[in-house]
Amino acid sequence: MQTSFERKPLEQVEAGALIVPVFEGRREERFGAGDLFDAGEIAGKPLELLLLHHVPGVVATRVLLAGAGKAEKFDSAELRKLAGAAVRHLKSKSVKSIAMALDPEHASADFASAAVEGAILGDYEPDRYKTDDDKKSVDRFTVVGAADDLEDAVTRGRIVAEAQNFARTLVNEPGNLLTPSKVADAARSMATEYQLDCQVLDLAEMERLGMGALLGVARGSAEPPALIVIGYKPSQTNSPAHLGLVGKGVTFDSGGISIKPSDGMEKMKYDMAGGAAMLGAMRAIAQLKPALAVTAFIPCVENMPGSRAQRPGDIVVAMSGKTIEVINTDAEGRLILADALTYARKQGCTHLVDAATLTGAVVVALGHLNVGLFSNDNGMRDRVLQAAKSAGERMWPMPLEDDYKEYLKSAFADLANVGGRWGGAITAAIFLKEFAEDTPWVHLDIAGTAWLDESKPFLAKGPTGLPVRTMVRLAMGWAD
Ligand code: BES
Ligand code: ZN
Ligand code: ZN
Repeated sequence: MQTSFERKPLEQVEAGALIVPVFEGRREERFGAGDLFDAGEIAGKPLELLLLHHVPGVVATRVLLAGAGKAEKFDSAELRKLAGAAVRHLKSKSVKSIAMALDPEHASADFASAAVEGAILGDYEPDRYKTDDDKKSVDRFTVVGAADDLEDAVTRGRIVAEAQNFARTLVNEPGNLLTPSKVADAARSMATEYQLDCQVLDLAEMERLGMGALLGVARGSAEPPALIVIGYKPSQTNSPAHLGLVGKGVTFDSGGISIKPSDGMEKMKYDMAGGAAMLGAMRAIAQLKPALAVTAFIPCVENMPGSRAQRPGDIVVAMSGKTIEVINTDAEGRLILADALTYARKQGCTHLVDAATLTGAVVVALGHLNVGLFSNDNGMRDRVLQAAKSAGERMWPMPLEDDYKEYLKSAFADLANVGGRWGGAITAAIFLKEFAEDTPWVHLDIAGTAWLDESKPFLAKGPTGLPVRTMVRLAMGWAD
């Protein structure tokens, strides 16, 4: 999708449709909307849409009145959703060229970026493997404002949303087509396109490094594992910080020998959503060029119950030297992340964030609305929460007290890989904390938020691309 910014009176904007946000409790006079408010055809409620044709004095072919809710509550997150819902509505009617008006009260750079993000995210469909030829998409999206030049904000929005869609595309790939080696191929070509360093550690290298936790998981599959390392270095920086982004890359999670029930198992292709999001974040970071070093580490494996698979009761030695009793082979994410976290620390990362579709328990705790956020450092926690808030991705802080460690006791090894029935999202995080050690670190459990079971007016069913935007904000907003 082409994006641009125009400073023009709304009546003169050329487009197949001009989206005009209208607020609840504020009778819009322009475009003959006054009568429509009086008749109760539109009230300005959130995501209400009313399409008008042949509006006198307007160059655009159509005007779409778009309910924005109460003006006091309207923020960039609401605008992102509104732009997405409007674009999805218009493209279903085959409109190709769309403009969206920013009202003067809500016309900062953040609003302009959010409008573009909403449009590009809303336009995305996970239809790559559909062979029918009536696929609809939007060609042009223009943000129209009255005051500041928002061209750069529009560009930033486009870069971030395209990176998020890049992640969504990877997540939606089925396990047969996107194996660990194929994720590595995708990472390499993305890195080449955006001039990032890329290195992929193979099985032999991981053996040499003693990554017994990761390799234990990989044993059950005929597909070899891969540890993707993608690095960005700023041209100049005063920051001693080196941010490590670690993402779970299980291309398919059958559960292994502790096999999952078949009902819904097809969804487990999205068990690499954390890894895809970190790749997406790097794609945007390469273009937006923050002033600190950022490296992504993506351990990729397929969790399968092959004849060489690890068994419940197996004891593996992680790269850090800690021994782990594998009680349940379906708790594989924490095993591969353990070694990736250790490796990231050894590579000199001073701050770490991991994103992982780690537990069903986080979905029980927070539903599908909030990412579960865990941290061993209040400063790092606040940085990520702040970034999430401004990026419009909801995250909720969860406890991570040492007392929980007792749940992971093993009679035979340093720790067990599962912690019993209760507090499953917390015990998973406690497990990871053992490997983040004293590095300031945030763990994001995205099991409930990386996938939409039903489409929303502003987003297709399937992968959401969380937490790409938060990771990009975190890097861009880094100070010191
Ligand atoms: N990939 C799953 C977690 C998951 C569940 C993601 C639902 C998305 C939706 C993870 O590897 C897993 O299987 N976790 C187990 C842990 C348990 C064995 C302690 C779980 O949550 O059931
Ligand atoms: Zn699992
Ligand atoms: Zn998993």
